[in-house]
Amino acid sequence: MSTRADAGKPAPPWQTAAQPPETSDAIQALLAGYFQRLAEDASASRRDPSEAAAQAFRNRWLGRRQGVLQQLHETLLKPAPPAWKKALGQALNLLRREADALAEALEAAARQAAARQRLASEALDITLPGSPGAGRGAPHPLLRVMDEIVEIFAGLGYSRAEGPEMETAFYNFEALNIPPDHPARDEQDTIYLGPGLPGLLLRTHTSPGQIRVMQRQAPPLRVVVPGRVYRRDTPDASHSPMFHQVEGLAVDEQLSFADLKGTLEHFARVYFGTTRARFRPSYFPFTEPSAEMDVECFACGGRGGAACRTCKGSGWIEILGCGMVHPELYRFAGQASGRWMGFAFGMGVERIAMIRYGIDDIQRFYSGDLRFLEQFRD
Ligand code: PHE
Repeated sequence: MSTRADAGKPAPPWQTAAQPPETSDAIQALLAGYFQRLAEDASASRRDPSEAAAQAFRNRWLGRRQGVLQQLHETLLKPAPPAWKKALGQALNLLRREADALAEALEAAARQAAARQRLASEALDITLPGSPGAGRGAPHPLLRVMDEIVEIFAGLGYSRAEGPEMETAFYNFEALNIPPDHPARDEQDTIYLGPGLPGLLLRTHTSPGQIRVMQRQAPPLRVVVPGRVYRRDTPDASHSPMFHQVEGLAVDEQLSFADLKGTLEHFARVYFGTTRARFRPSYFPFTEPSAEMDVECFACGGRGGAACRTCKGSGWIEILGCGMVHPELYRFAGQASGRWMGFAFGMGVERIAMIRYGIDDIQRFYSGDLRFLEQFRD
């Protein structure tokens, strides 16, 4: 294809016609051959949607020195007799506008093609296998310990449930039989979400999960509720304003404290490898009776003495709180009271992990220090 402006150049129109045309169609027809060449050049250029091709097209037609329009200006308009200048000037303007519109369309298409190509080349192939070793992640030790705890109970038929971290005082306290004047409700201990979220607080334990589960599901049931909890504590080696718990709840027609002991002793055996456990009387408003469970120190075999750092010499390690579900809770959860018996327990995941791995400072879990975290990689 010829893109040269002077190829097959027609004779100047004033040599073939007596009068310049007046209608716009006839004026445009003066340069009919150029309009056709322009259209052909544009469709040829479209086959190569590059910015370079679009730029070359613009130069060929609109280039300041060599462009077809500039040449026509010099060779056709300038030498034209005065009577023809107006019509020829209008025809040239039409051609110029058409060339400019086509050049713009080609440039836009080229930009689009470039963007598409960039997107395609930057696309992530999620089907590619990962590169092992190079920065491969691993579950955080806390999530891992939490999953291991949940797994042990899953083996006993417990399902997993979750509750919201943002709770109401009803679920966090009232429905758990915690009286309005209980110190745990104090602003010193509980993070209330303030005037923007009236009535809401960050759950201080996973026990609201007991009520939420029993509201949804009638006994018999067995669930564990892992999750984050919050207390208004200043961070130090054994405190963090956010930590993790796993709650457990089993309710049936006939469950006794013996079932509670058997279940939790099984857990301790599997998780810590210990054989002996003891239950010390304790108090929680939502269990009655309540107990604290200790396992025999697996580091010193229960011998204790000043040398054992794991149990601080007592031979026992406290691992969780537990008890028989307080009868009031069934009522709060909308279940028939007097019909069900159950037990509940709650353990701190950080505490369990620290005991198991001999970690001396709870803050290590939250520091993001890879030297610490990488020790828990498989
Ligand atoms: N919610 C109690 C705590 O955070 C633990 C617990 C759970 C005790 C279930 C008894 C039964 O300390």
